[in-house]
Amino acid sequence: MRWWLSFAFALIAAVTAAAVAQVFAQRSETAFRERAEALAVGNAVAAADGVARAFREREGNPGAAVREIAEQRRLALFVFDDDGELLTAERSRGTALVDVPGGAEAVGVALDGQRHVEPHDDGRLVVIGLPLPNAGEAQAVIAHAVRPELTAQVAIAREKIAEAAVLAVIIGAATGLLVAMLISARLRRIASAASAIEGGRFDLALEPRFGDELGALAATVDRMRVRLRDSFEALSAERDRLHTLLARLREGVLTVDRELSVDYANPTAARFLGLQPLDGRPPLPEPWPGFSLRALAASLFREDATVVEARVSVGDDVTLAVVGVPAGAGSQTAILVLADVSERERRERAEREFVANAAHELRTPLAAITSAVEVLQSGAKEEPEARDRFLGAIERQSARLGRLAQTMLTLARAQTRPGATSPERIEVRPLLEEIAASLDVAPGVELRVDADASLEVIADRDLLQQALANLAANAAKHTEHGSIELAAAPAPGGFAAVEVRDTGPGMAPAEQQRAFERFYRGSGSEGDGFGLGLAIVRQAVRALGGTVDLHSVEGVGTTVRVVLRSTEREVA
Ligand SMILES: Nc1ncnc2c1ncn2[C@@H]1O[C@H](COP(=O)(O)OP(=O)(O)OP(=O)(O)O)[C@@H](O)[C@H]1O
Ligand SMILES: [Mg+2]
Repeated sequence: MRWWLSFAFALIAAVTAAAVAQVFAQRSETAFRERAEALAVGNAVAAADGVARAFREREGNPGAAVREIAEQRRLALFVFDDDGELLTAERSRGTALVDVPGGAEAVGVALDGQRHVEPHDDGRLVVIGLPLPNAGEAQAVIAHAVRPELTAQVAIAREKIAEAAVLAVIIGAATGLLVAMLISARLRRIASAASAIEGGRFDLALEPRFGDELGALAATVDRMRVRLRDSFEALSAERDRLHTLLARLREGVLTVDRELSVDYANPTAARFLGLQPLDGRPPLPEPWPGFSLRALAASLFREDATVVEARVSVGDDVTLAVVGVPAGAGSQTAILVLADVSERERRERAEREFVANAAHELRTPLAAITSAVEVLQSGAKEEPEARDRFLGAIERQSARLGRLAQTMLTLARAQTRPGATSPERIEVRPLLEEIAASLDVAPGVELRVDADASLEVIADRDLLQQALANLAANAAKHTEHGSIELAAAPAPGGFAAVEVRDTGPGMAPAEQQRAFERFYRGSGSEGDGFGLGLAIVRQAVRALGGTVDLHSVEGVGTTVRVVLRSTEREVA
């Protein structure tokens, strides 16, 4: 830019200088000519005076005097009488009268008493006719002035003007270059600030130095930089928040493009799909046999696509829910959400099993009652012995049904959420003694209660009673010799540990693992239990905010330990 700008300046300077030079040259030439003419006229008038005196006084030879004056004044002089007859020589200073242009006309005008001045040959030659009053017979004189130096003078003037014009062009170009360099340096500053902004660097401030148009442009660019920086900072803070959120999500979230490349995957999604964090844009993998994730993703780019959901079993006991959100109009990416629903799946399965088990438990006594009633109706009621036997069976099964209903209600209550209980201070020892008193133990089995009289726990009385009674009932049911102990002691951290220990047959490890499942009954206990006792214990203790664990050794015995908050913590 600086080059074309300085060229433009030079051109303007050249055109201006040429125009000025032209006008100036013309003016000075005219002035030179006019000055030369005036000089010639003045010279001629002075010469005419001399000539007039010479003729008037007529001393000696007027012709010689005229020649002398002509030499002195550097003029060719020709003197005429009244009739226009030449009184002097035909030639004066080498110029013949016949060679004087317009000589006859000049003589005529001078004889009429008028002054005649006529320049010729571009002003280098002036013919002047003057009347001669009081000069005797001489009446008019013609002076022929030649100024050959005028051409040289005009040429010198032209040369000087041309030199000045060239100088003006050079100064103009140099000034143009300087100005152009200054302007382009300022523009370069603005351009480099703009390109820094384009490159995402918003820290370079651009301070306007002058209040002109370029200064205003610089100020505008700087304001734009500040606004862009603020927006970018807000955006990146937003993006960071979103990233943190997505990184913390337990659900996997990923976006895929039309080519089924992974655009973005949060850490959970990367873990589910086995993607490395720095993979760039890897193709969407097919991690699970029997389910095509790519096919599901591809369907999200169809025009009529809607949200799709699928469940995939991806390994031992692990189920994932895959939700695909289609690419909306104008969007190039579809979203996949992966959630581990194994726990929910397990819970749903457990609920189904619970209902099936409950139905089964209900059906068994109901079937026994129904068939007893049928037998009675088909005639057995007429035989007292048979009638008593079947009525007894009906009574037992009804009692079992009643117990089952009661146990299921207890379980339902124990499943209440922790907030729904009413905690109170409970003295442990009296509670254990009360449970022991109502326990039906086998003959020869020693039953002991071992607890500090002062020990108190914070719990819902009903729930705690249910839990401990179930544990004690299990101990009593399985212990045929040895002892049963209901013990309680403070545990570190403001807790109390209540233990139910027995010397029964103990449980195999596999049995221990399943003992807390609802409706689970061990191999050795087909009796009248429902397999709900320990499930009630676990739910009740959970509702009380405590923990329960079972320790059992086959052939030695079983200890179940329940840890609850004690009142010691409050005192502390
Ligand atoms: N103290 C124990 N000694 C040995 N086995 C036990 C003991 N407590 C529980 N079990 C085993 O764990 C199983 C589950 O016990 P749980 O109390 O849940 O059911 P249950 O006693 O069979 O029936 P319910 O308690 O509903 O009347 C029992 O069937 C039994 O096999
Ligand atoms: Mg039980």
